[in-house]
Amino acid sequence: MTNDRVLTVVEDLERTLVEFIRKHGITHAEYRAATDLIIAEVQAGEASLLFDVFLEAAATDMDNHDREGTIEAIEGPFYLPGAPWLDGPPHVLPQRPDEPGTPLLFHGRVTTETGAPLPGAELDLWHADAAGCYSQIHPGIPDWNLRGRFHSDDDGRFAVQTIAPPPYEIPKDGPTGRVLNALGRHFFRPAHLHLKLRHEYFGERTSQLYFPGGEYLGSDVANAVRDELVMTVRFVEDPEQSARHGLDSSYVDAHYDFAFAPEGA
Ligand SMILES: [Fe+2]
Repeated sequence: MTNDRVLTVVEDLERTLVEFIRKHGITHAEYRAATDLIIAEVQAGEASLLFDVFLEAAATDMDNHDREGTIEAIEGPFYLPGAPWLDGPPHVLPQRPDEPGTPLLFHGRVTTETGAPLPGAELDLWHADAAGCYSQIHPGIPDWNLRGRFHSDDDGRFAVQTIAPPPYEIPKDGPTGRVLNALGRHFFRPAHLHLKLRHEYFGERTSQLYFPGGEYLGSDVANAVRDELVMTVRFVEDPEQSARHGLDSSYVDAHYDFAFAPEGA
């Protein structure tokens, strides 16, 4: 039995690529260089990185088309399932005692598309450290550092303390970097938080949230920034407010509300 969707899409991809070769007069040597590049990506462990940089955001846009509520975002190559559940509230993302970076209080609410609270929504948060590195991906960082899961409360609200991540460069020494270099592009992603949210009402959604005014917001190497994914952010320099959250310094307050329609809607 054939899968109609596979037939339609794969045969069109084949047609498109054949037309592409004719349109650009691709020689055999150029064709072989291109296939060698993809093989090199796989061998360097960068297959996901290459496709995520160039194509993932476009596929995510397709999922968001005609869908009610908060849009989804790219997952990126650094998600790991099974992050630890956090104690609390207050929830604090696992971090080293001397974790560098400005404290960040990230909070918001999870609701249905009509605004009804969704208690018990699972939020699975991961992000880079102040050096732009991810635990279990880059060396020298404790397992599950800046990765953790927590639930929304009875009113759908959530809050978690962590540190504000910086913009970071994607790996640039491998084949993906060589491609970007040849195109004359930089390697930076703007600062962002990664999230997966789960609830029986909406299933699983992937998000990625950005800081307003952040560097590289308009030139993300992955072209994944969308206006709807930018948080409301303020810098708090009030010792009383800091103390209320158990902090002894100024902090970044970032707010974002999720409103999701039922799964399959
Ligand atoms: Fe990331």
